[in-house]
Order: sequence, then C-alpha cells, then structure tokens
Amino acid sequence: MVGGNFLSLFLLVEIIVSGYRFGANGLSMNYYLMSCPVADPIVKNTVNRALQADPTLAAGLVRMHFHDCFIEGCDGSVLIDSTKDNTAEKDSPANLSLQGYEIIDAAKEQLEKMCPGVVSCSDILAMAARDAVFWAGGPIYDIPKGRKDGRRSKIEDTINLPPPTFNASQLITMFGQHGFSAQEMVALSGAHTLGVAACSSFKSRLSKVDPTLDADFAKTLSKTCSSGDNAQQPFDATRNSFDNLYFKALQRKAGLLTSDQALYADSRTAGIVNGFAFNEAMFFFTFQGAMVKMGTLDVKEGSKGEVRTNCHKIN
Ligand code: HEM
Ligand SMILES: *[C@@H]1O[C@H](CO)[C@@H](O)[C@H](O)[C@H]1NC(C)=O
Ligand SMILES: *[C@@H]1O[C@H](CO)[C@@H](O)[C@H](O)[C@H]1NC(C)=O
Repeated sequence: MVGGNFLSLFLLVEIIVSGYRFGANGLSMNYYLMSCPVADPIVKNTVNRALQADPTLAAGLVRMHFHDCFIEGCDGSVLIDSTKDNTAEKDSPANLSLQGYEIIDAAKEQLEKMCPGVVSCSDILAMAARDAVFWAGGPIYDIPKGRKDGRRSKIEDTINLPPPTFNASQLITMFGQHGFSAQEMVALSGAHTLGVAACSSFKSRLSKVDPTLDADFAKTLSKTCSSGDNAQQPFDATRNSFDNLYFKALQRKAGLLTSDQALYADSRTAGIVNGFAFNEAMFFFTFQGAMVKMGTLDVKEGSKGEVRTNCHKIN
C-alpha cells in the first residue's frame, strides 16, 4: 500500500511538473485543465461513438493527423476547405481518400457549446488520432495540447508529403528533415497497420517484375486492380486492428506500397522491421513516442495562430 501511495504521489508530481511545459514549445499535458476540462473526454466519446458505427474511420483519423503535421505543422490546415480564391491542401491528389472530417466536426460542435472559442481544431485532430489508435487496439498515451490553428492551407504545400514510390533512402531523408530517426520513421510507417490504399497508389508495381513483391500477393493485387483505380486493398490482414501484422507482411514481401516494402529491402531499416515484427510492445512503445513527437511539429502558439470557430474556415 505504502509503495502504491508513493508511486501515485510520484506520478502526481510528474504530471504537475510535466504539465507546465513540453519540450521547447509551450504545449502542455493539461493545457485545458482550467479552460475546458471536458476537452479530452468529449473528443474520446465522439471518436468512440463514430468508430463503433464505422471502424474504418480509425485509419482516416490517424492519417489526417499525419498529413496535418507534415504540411505547415500540426495546425489544422488539412481541415480547411477551398474557397473561390484559394485551393486548399484537401483538394490535392495527395489527399486521396482522406476521411473522418465529420468526426472532428462533431467534436468541435460539442466543444464550442461547452467552452466556446477555447479548443483548437488541430488539438482536436491530435486527440482524435490518439483515441483512434487506442480504440483499434494500439497503445494508450497522453499528448500535450495547446496548438493554435493556422491561417494557411495551400494545395502546393502537399508536395511535402512522401509519395508511395519513395525508397528507404528517400524516406530516411524526408523524415530526418523533420527530426525523426530511421527507427521512428519505420514505427510511424507502422500506422499502415490500419486502413487501405487505392489501386492507383500501388498499381505501378504490377507492370514489371518486382523481386521485392511476393508472387501470390501480386496476383491478389492484380485482382483488386481489375475493379479499377479506386478499388481498395488493405495494408494487412486486419485493417481495423492496430497490431504488428503490417511488419510481418513486409517480411513475407507482402507490403502494399513501394514505400512499405522498401523498409524491408534496405539494410538500415530491415532490422527495425524484424524487431517490430518480433516484439509488438517495442513497436507500440516506439510508435507512441514518435506520434507525440509528430504532434509537436512546427506548432503555432499565441498570435501565430487562432482557435478556429469552424474547422473548415479561417476565422
Ligand atoms: C512513410 C511514408 C508514407 C507514405 C509514402 C504513405 C502513403 C500512403 C498512401 C499512398 C496511402 C493510401 C492512400 C490511398 O490510396 O487512398 C496511405 C494510407 C494511410 N496512411 Fe500513409 N504514408 C506514409 C506514412 C504514414 C504515416 C506516418 C501515417 C500515420 C502516422 C500514415 C497513416 C496512414 C493510414 C492510417 C492510411 C490508411 C487510410 C485509410 O484507410 O483511410 N501513413 N499512406
Ligand atoms: C481530394 O482532392 C480531390 C482532387 O484531387 C477532390 O476531388 C476531393 O474532393 C478531395 N477530397 C476531399 C476529402 O476533400
Ligand atoms: C532511392 O531513390 C533515389 C531517387 O530515385 C535514387 O537516387 C537512389 O539511388 C535510391 N536508393 C536506393 C538505395 O535504391
């Protein structure tokens, strides 16, 4: 008992201390403690309800957070609609099949009722991605909050997203530019344990003999693509479960995208793939750390951003 109390006291102190600041930026774990204590539970309930109705949206939320953070920082720019004078990120071909916007809208609507003008769209998206990972069976982790929403969303910025044709060198370089190690990059790619890709994202692999593509899996892909460019193929055998089957698929040359299978073809990343395939807990641990880090990329604070009233529009 004494040990337990000691531990909880330690955790409490830890939470209070870590609550003030997170790293070099002004995000904090309990940013909404005073201004909107229901922020976390409202997002979680909204996500859980939506995913119960449609489990495939977990993938959508995780991917949307990634796209948000890699373009202009985690500032909700991915949520902005195009206008007469501006074509937004979401209308880029790279947005292909982004989904889950309505979950962010539902959470935002409730939060605007409870605490108007307080909780940013970028924080809602970051929390929703976290809750989706846990809902799907992945790790549970807390994230710092306090992101402000940005005022820029331009189609041309989506050039900063990695294309599915990248090899390991290119992935290591691009993620390295954002401060990620190869191990973190491989863990983040493990988000492809959730969801699907459209034939248009991988069909180029089928037009030539690809020694990194298993022959039977190639047949499966050809069959999928016979229904057209929009036909969907799951990344692994359990598209709605957050597990390490994605890495086991790479070991069998059954990775979906060139950029997936490339991780197993390069000596700098193959060992990491094997490690995560062997030890799911290690994947979860590395993934959660990398997601927290991804969620702090180029965040906007203070007057550099705003709290949008409607996630689709700049105030
Ligand atoms: C490593 C470089 C990456 C590349 C080249 C890449 C590329 C892609 C592509 C092409 C798709 C399929 C889109 C479509 O055809 O509809 C996709 C789906 C997805 N990506 Fe990535 N991605 C990468 C990293 C990430 C990261 C870091 C995350 C999140 C942490 C992520 C999460 C997802 C999810 C969850 C899906 C499935 C979406 C759904 O089913 O709705 N990806 N990705
Ligand atoms: C994504 O971009 C395409 C144009 O490339 C557009 O037609 C589509 O509506 C966009 N998707 C979303 C969800 O905004
Ligand atoms: C990766 O792709 C780049 C650009 O196409 C190429 O220059 C490089 O040699 C490739 N690296 C490997 C290891 O295949």
